[in-house]
Amino acid sequence: MIKGIIFDLDGVIVSTDKYHYAAWKQLADRENIFFDEQINNRLRGVSRRESLNIILERASKEYSEAEINEMLEYKNQIYRKSLVNITPKDILPGVKELLNYLTINCIKKAIGSSSKNTMLILERIGLSDCFDVIVDGTMISHTKPDPEVFLKAQKGLNLANTECLVVEDAVAGVEASHNANIKAVAVGDAALHGVGDYNFSNVLEIKNIL
Ligand code: BG6
Ligand code: MG
Repeated sequence: MIKGIIFDLDGVIVSTDKYHYAAWKQLADRENIFFDEQINNRLRGVSRRESLNIILERASKEYSEAEINEMLEYKNQIYRKSLVNITPKDILPGVKELLNYLTINCIKKAIGSSSKNTMLILERIGLSDCFDVIVDGTMISHTKPDPEVFLKAQKGLNLANTECLVVEDAVAGVEASHNANIKAVAVGDAALHGVGDYNFSNVLEIKNIL
């Protein structure tokens, strides 16, 4: 029986994934590195640094550590500027209804995100008090597909792996969930790849499997 759901943030709760893409695209264009939405799908769920490593696979020069840090900062500043425009309207379809349903049915809720901007985003969309447990990019050493973020969230919920469910839009996130031995609901890009134990187009469909 499912007693707790661990949600990824970007691309599951809120449509920030498009802002990540726009900021990385601006950096890639500045550096004359080819980057498109298909490559961007590989960035879903992985840390800022690992995302840059993926983009730099197509770079024609070697970058110093100082240059890498400057690029990470450049991207994050563009990204954080776009977060100023985020409001509760950016919450993805079905999310609010599902969260209410979980609260009414005493099913715990957690966030398991690689993002270091998690708290800022949750505040902007008015959901910072909605979760029993929040594990974000500031609290982990290994990025998805490593299971660390979900294992920490599971521990925080004080539930067995079989009592939890992860919701993810990233292939790397579904892998992280499976590496933690937790079943995964895939939405968005991960659902298109069919990698989840369940592949849904709207998170509200989760009600049917509880
Ligand atoms: C994940 C996103 O949630 O957070 C990734 O899917 C992103 O695309 C990662 O790189 C890290 O985010 P941030 O906000 O710490 O740069
Ligand atoms: Mg995501």
